[in-house]
Amino acid sequence: LRSTLFKEVQEFHDAGGTTRQSSEQRAGPGQPRDHQRFTIWIMALPRLAVEMLASICLRIMTDFSTRLIEWQQTHGRHDLPWQSTCDPYRIWLSEIMLQQTQVSTVIPYYARFLDRFPDIPALAQAPVETVLELWAGLGYYARARNLHRCAQTLVANHCGSFPKSAEEIVQLPGIGRSTAAAIAAFAFGQRAAILDGNVKRVLTRCFGIDGIPGTAQTDRQLWALAESLLPRTDIEHYTQGLMDLGASLCARSKPRCANCPMTE
Ligand code: ADE
Repeated sequence: LRSTLFKEVQEFHDAGGTTRQSSEQRAGPGQPRDHQRFTIWIMALPRLAVEMLASICLRIMTDFSTRLIEWQQTHGRHDLPWQSTCDPYRIWLSEIMLQQTQVSTVIPYYARFLDRFPDIPALAQAPVETVLELWAGLGYYARARNLHRCAQTLVANHCGSFPKSAEEIVQLPGIGRSTAAAIAAFAFGQRAAILDGNVKRVLTRCFGIDGIPGTAQTDRQLWALAESLLPRTDIEHYTQGLMDLGASLCARSKPRCANCPMTE
């Protein structure tokens, strides 16, 4: 129930802490079972208990994002080629290339690709064979085909540029929920939650979630948690911080917990 609690608390906080009406109204048959159970439980508590719970949860949530943002600014990565731009095309390209591929492998491919295709129309006009030639060696070639198809969709339906919200970006070919959120956050400063394999590991460790990532129930819980933790400001450092923590201290094997910003 933890992520449901965080989400509920964020909504309670957003409503100015003045109403529990919305919880009551939302406890309908369309809600996930956890949410219904939680809403019934929270409605049975005295108001003072709800406010105390809200304040504790809010502190945990803001503490997580504050620590992560501070850590990213001092210990995170700042000089990756895609960090010096707000151009959604360049950010999109980096996010697609970085799927299942190391940063050091991506960097030369990224530079060559942008030399040859400096913008969305240039990519859309090229034959797919040329795109695949520039991709040769990176693997997972469906990514290159989707990249090309997506550029053509952007030219045909969006005047050759990216829509600004994660909800619209995720409708495009080859762009999943987490990638859409990363593009929306880095290019447009939108508060949108990412949840790739590394981020799942960070959240399961930090919040003691013992379900198996990749199963529908645990992933639903992790998405709710990821959304509840989003800070009000500085979404770019926060998002990069999650990626950097997952790629360094919070690595799959031999995590360096003693240096983690979340350790007391
Ligand atoms: N992996 C996925 N997105 C990344 C980014 N923006 N920086 C570093 N590694 C990443």
